[in-house]
Amino acid sequence: MEVLALLGSPRRLGNSELMAKEISRQIPELHRLRLVRLAEMDIRPCRACYTCMFDEHTCPQKDDFSRILEALLKADALILAVPVYMLAANASLKRFLDRGLSLYSHFEQLWGKPAVAVAIAGIPGMEGYAKLCLDSALRLMGAQPKGSEVVYGALPGEVLMNQENLETAARLARALFAPAVSWQNQPWRCQACGGDTFRFLDSEKVRCMTCSSPGKAHITDGRISFAVEPPEDHFFLSLEGARRHLHWLQGMKQRFLDHKKELKSICLGYLHEGEWLEPREKSNRSTPSPDVS
Ligand SMILES: Cc1cc2nc3c(=O)[nH]c(=O)nc-3n(C[C@H](O)[C@H](O)[C@H](O)COP(=O)(O)O)c2cc1C
Repeated sequence: MEVLALLGSPRRLGNSELMAKEISRQIPELHRLRLVRLAEMDIRPCRACYTCMFDEHTCPQKDDFSRILEALLKADALILAVPVYMLAANASLKRFLDRGLSLYSHFEQLWGKPAVAVAIAGIPGMEGYAKLCLDSALRLMGAQPKGSEVVYGALPGEVLMNQENLETAARLARALFAPAVSWQNQPWRCQACGGDTFRFLDSEKVRCMTCSSPGKAHITDGRISFAVEPPEDHFFLSLEGARRHLHWLQGMKQRFLDHKKELKSICLGYLHEGEWLEPREKSNRSTPSPDVS
C-alpha cells in the first residue's frame, strides 16, 4: 500500500514533515510513504480556461501539478500536514487546491481515499481557521476524511517534544484505515460531513463551512446542536454529486457562448477605469485587454 503525504511547509525536517512521518510510523498497516513538499513544487495559478473539463481533460499549464495528481491517483491513502501561517493553512495548500477543477475528471479514481490531516501552529490557540482549510481540502479532493487535528509547536522539531502531539499522531494513524466514525453522538458537528465550523447567518440559521450545507442551531439544556439539511444535489458529499457538478461546470461553456455578446459589452464598459499598479516585469507593457474574447 502507498500512503501519500502532502506537506505544506517549505521547512525541511520542519514540524509538518515530522508529524507526517510520525503518523506514518504509527500506521499499523504495512505501507510505503511517499512525500510531496507542495511549497517547492512549481504549481501555477488556474487560468480559469476550463480546458481540463473537456477533450483530453488536461491542464494547459506545464508545471508540477500533473505529477502531484499522478501521485494522488496512485495513493491508497493520504496524510495532509500543513503549518499555520497568518491564522490559516499556508498558501502552498491553496495554490494546489486552486487547480482543483483538474481533479473533477479523475474523481472516479480519486473518490473515497482515506485521509487524515494535521495543522501545526506555533502558538496554542492561534490556529485561526487552519483546521477548516484542511477539512475543506480533504472534501474538495474527494477524500474520505478519517480525522483532522491541530497540534502546537513552533521551532523545527518542537512538535515532537510534546507527548500529547505524539498521541495525536498515533490516533490519526490508527484512524486512517479504520472504519469511519459516525458523528451522531457529536451533535455540535455538521451531521452531513462531520465539520465543526459554522457561519451564523442570523441568530438561528447556520451554514457548515466545510460542506456548505444549511442548517439551524439549537440550544437544549445549555448544549448546542446543529440540525443540518444538505441539499439533495449537493456536489461533494457523494461521487454522484461530484459527477453532477462536473456536468454543471461543463455546461458553463455553453452558457458563456449563449451570453458572450452581452457579457463582453458589460466588461468593456469598465475597461478604462482606474490606474493600475503593474508588476515590475510588466511595467513596459500596454494596458491589458479584457479576457472576454
Ligand atoms: C509566515 C508565518 C506565519 C505564521 N503564522 C502563525 C499563526 O498565525 N499562528 C500560529 O500559531 N503560528 C504561526 N506561525 C508559526 C508556525 O505555524 C509554526 O512555526 C509551525 O511549527 C511551522 O511548521 P513547519 O515547521 O512545518 O514549517 C507562523 C509562521 C510563519 C513562518
